[in-house]
Amino acid sequence: MARKKRDQPLIPLKIMGTGAYLPERVLTNHDLAKFLDTSDEWIRTRTGIRARHLLSPEDVPSQMGVKAAEAALAQANRSPKDVDLLLVATNVPEEPIPGTAAHIARELGLGKGAFADVTAGCAGFVYALAMAGAMIHAGLAKTALVVGTEALSRFVNWQDRSTCVLFGDGAGAVLTEKSRGQAGILGVALRGDATKLELLRIEAGGVRLPASCETVQAGKHFLRMEGKGLFRAAVGMMAEVTRAAAAQAGLNLAEIDWLIPHQANLRIIEALVKRLRIPEEKVVVNIDRVANTSTASIPIALDELVRAGKVEEGQILALTAFGAGACYGTVILRW
Ligand code: UT7
Repeated sequence: MARKKRDQPLIPLKIMGTGAYLPERVLTNHDLAKFLDTSDEWIRTRTGIRARHLLSPEDVPSQMGVKAAEAALAQANRSPKDVDLLLVATNVPEEPIPGTAAHIARELGLGKGAFADVTAGCAGFVYALAMAGAMIHAGLAKTALVVGTEALSRFVNWQDRSTCVLFGDGAGAVLTEKSRGQAGILGVALRGDATKLELLRIEAGGVRLPASCETVQAGKHFLRMEGKGLFRAAVGMMAEVTRAAAAQAGLNLAEIDWLIPHQANLRIIEALVKRLRIPEEKVVVNIDRVANTSTASIPIALDELVRAGKVEEGQILALTAFGAGACYGTVILRW
């Protein structure tokens, strides 16, 4: 089908800098097999994961976010004082009040810039990037820092082999400003299906079920996931929004130079890519080394791609994610 190509971006936006941070401590599948009824073979073949980085007990997610943000600011040659909007995508805030963004703003020395957390499951970074772009486009912000930082290792049950093997900790960031050229967001599709809310939850610790001895004893502070249901939903959701964003951009999927999918499971990525008929060499995969870092997964993968010198001006990047909620979304960018 012939589509009208968008010459001017929907949202003129330039990614001025990217950054990422992975904690030093690495836990391999072999390490896991020492205390869990699992094996490197099972984890590798079912998920594509070989290792994950874990935040040390004395560290907090905002420290990872700050390190990723500092790298993005340095690459962009900007100072924290230039940032007038900080959006932090994260699933579990550093403490109930205030959110992680406040801690990152204080540590970075943000000045009087606005800051807020964005909670949209593992799709949080894609949501936050679209929000930052829309605010810049509306003239409500000039320099927006978008961070994804996550330490789900603190919420998995290390006795539950069906969840704890999947997640890793880390952070990624991008610094964005209005673009004067062709760079920008060409298409956005953000969606949700709250009928799937049950698929991924941490039930206790919020207002609905405050922390108590009973909630701790019942294990209700652990992340609980219906893996098969999520797997099935994920491929369809990411395919749907990637097609919708491409249609809005007036692009054929074949014109995408780089697909950066949320790194939840290599089999999910492979099924998505097959469905969208995107060649393997255009798909960014680092799940083997970092596992599922939730909101940080896309900005970490993007940063690795950029720092490897693989992204060229004018190239088309599609960032797509799904997660708790169920929230899902795709942002298509011209670099
Ligand atoms: O960011 C979004 C959040 N998460 C996701 O997107 C996860 C989506 N789902 C998945 O990635 C996959 O469903 C999993 C990797 C979680 C599970 O893979 P699966 O192929 O759906 O396996 P399964 O749950 O059907 O389990 C198959 C078997 C079971 O044993 P039985 O019942 O067949 O005897 C499990 O008990 O594998 C067993 N199993 C394990 N065995 C060794 C489950 N976890 C493990 C493990 N090691 N770590």
